[in-house]
Amino acid sequence: MKAILCESFGPPENLVLKEIDNPVAGDDEAIVEVYAASLNFPDGLQIQGKYQFQPPMPFTPGSEVGGIIKSVGPGLKGFEAGDRVMAIPGLGGLAEQVVVKAAGLRKIPTNMDFKTAAGFAMVYTTSYYALKQRARLQAGETLLVLGASGGVGLAAVELGKLMGARVIAAASTDEKLEFVNQLQPDELLNYGDGELKEKVKALTDGRGADVIYDPVGGDLFDQSCRCINWNGRLLVIGFTSGRIPAYKANLALLKGSSMVGVFLGRFRQEEPDTYERNFTELLKLYDEDKLRPIITQSFPLSEYVAAFEVFTERRVMGKVTLEIKSE
Ligand SMILES: NC(=O)c1ccc[n+]([C@@H]2O[C@H](COP(=O)([O-])OP(=O)(O)OC[C@H]3O[C@@H](n4cnc5c(N)ncnc54)[C@H](OP(=O)(O)O)[C@@H]3O)[C@@H](O)[C@H]2O)c1
Repeated sequence: MKAILCESFGPPENLVLKEIDNPVAGDDEAIVEVYAASLNFPDGLQIQGKYQFQPPMPFTPGSEVGGIIKSVGPGLKGFEAGDRVMAIPGLGGLAEQVVVKAAGLRKIPTNMDFKTAAGFAMVYTTSYYALKQRARLQAGETLLVLGASGGVGLAAVELGKLMGARVIAAASTDEKLEFVNQLQPDELLNYGDGELKEKVKALTDGRGADVIYDPVGGDLFDQSCRCINWNGRLLVIGFTSGRIPAYKANLALLKGSSMVGVFLGRFRQEEPDTYERNFTELLKLYDEDKLRPIITQSFPLSEYVAAFEVFTERRVMGKVTLEIKSE
């Protein structure tokens, strides 16, 4: 089968598209024929050797896909060849076939296409967990979302609105804000000039936001600590800016605020029942037409470099997928 291989760390051009052996399913695993695979920011870090978990070389990147089960191991219950699924293999998704464990498989509704299936799990389960369990976001509270046009940011805007919050969507350009505006946030904030704190205060009568969703880190995190409301929760999602910031404890004291870590992978391990319940609720919201995942760009497998560059060049608006087989 064809697969993208990372044989040495570096920019996307270092990746190669190769013929490799088809994967073989273990006892409780399935082989999924991949129709679409989605990319996320961590995939770009991983191929450069900058992610916190590095697989042994060579490896095929790609943590989530949509496709059809081709075969199942003898111990796999509840799935059979021909099932349409969204799958979270963790690695190996940028290939014509991938092996997936039972826990990473989910049948998809008939009204969900494979690109949507590929781009659904990571962004929605992260943002739902962050807002629901970690921030305990309440209707009527003000939610500030940084990096609002990106994968997890866009999901946070959409879910924040559904949960009844007043949502301030923030991004670095007017083009990105115009894109986010289709989800009808209550306010748009452009921090492209580096200024966040005063703009948030102006939009909140000087009090600051109740919940801040931060996938960016760096200077925006520093300013967020200073424009958070009394009892506010600052959600640490990631560090796309490239700098892991330091938290000033005196600001937590003065504002009665908390910095709250969010780590989807560990949550899934530690609290599998809650993770499953969240996932089921998200699929129900999709079924009820309350979630509208926005796939903006789709590339053929051979154009993987261009697809990765959307992330490394800070151009993401919505979800980016690779189309590996057409439906
Ligand atoms: N904690 C968890 O469990 C978890 C789960 C999933 C993802 N994450 C993390 O969440 C972050 C976002 O992931 P994603 O897949 O949603 O990424 P994405 O689609 O690329 O979006 C990231 C956003 O970050 C902003 N950004 C600021 N500085 C940037 C820079 N130098 N380069 C690129 N983007 C920059 C961009 O918006 P502006 O240009 O508007 O600033 C962009 O929209 C990543 O750090 C990822 O590792 C964490």
